[in-house]
Amino acid sequence: MRKEELIGNAMAVMKNAYAPYSEFTVGAALLTKKGKVYTGCNIENSSYSVTNCAERTALFCAVKNGERQFSAIAVVGGKKGRVENYCSPCGVCRQALREFCDKDFKIYLYNGVEIKTYTLGELLPESFELG
Ligand code: THU
Repeated sequence: MRKEELIGNAMAVMKNAYAPYSEFTVGAALLTKKGKVYTGCNIENSSYSVTNCAERTALFCAVKNGERQFSAIAVVGGKKGRVENYCSPCGVCRQALREFCDKDFKIYLYNGVEIKTYTLGELLPESFELG
């Protein structure tokens, strides 16, 4: 799947974001190594720390469907659904992805104009590993 298509999936699911507190909506589309896409949006809560980010919504949805191998994720976000800046995964989401993804796992970010590509190794260097 082309990165543009994965970004399109993230843009579409961003519309389902539940973000009444921040009004910052986020969409994520996670690609499995076999080519299947799982999407997620941010889901906020009046007890703010309970909020779930779009990336983890997509990841947990995929894992609960038996998926364990992923090649890429696309992430988009912005205030009131306006994608004008890059929305980079937070630290918690980077670590959550690291549980299942190698350092060469691709992260595509879109600012409404251009796509930037990173690897998980670049965004989470020297990541924690047990043992
Ligand atoms: N958010 C995400 O969904 N993903 C990120 O990587 C960063 C932040 C959400 C959480 C919250 O609902 C809103 O963006 C503002 O922080």
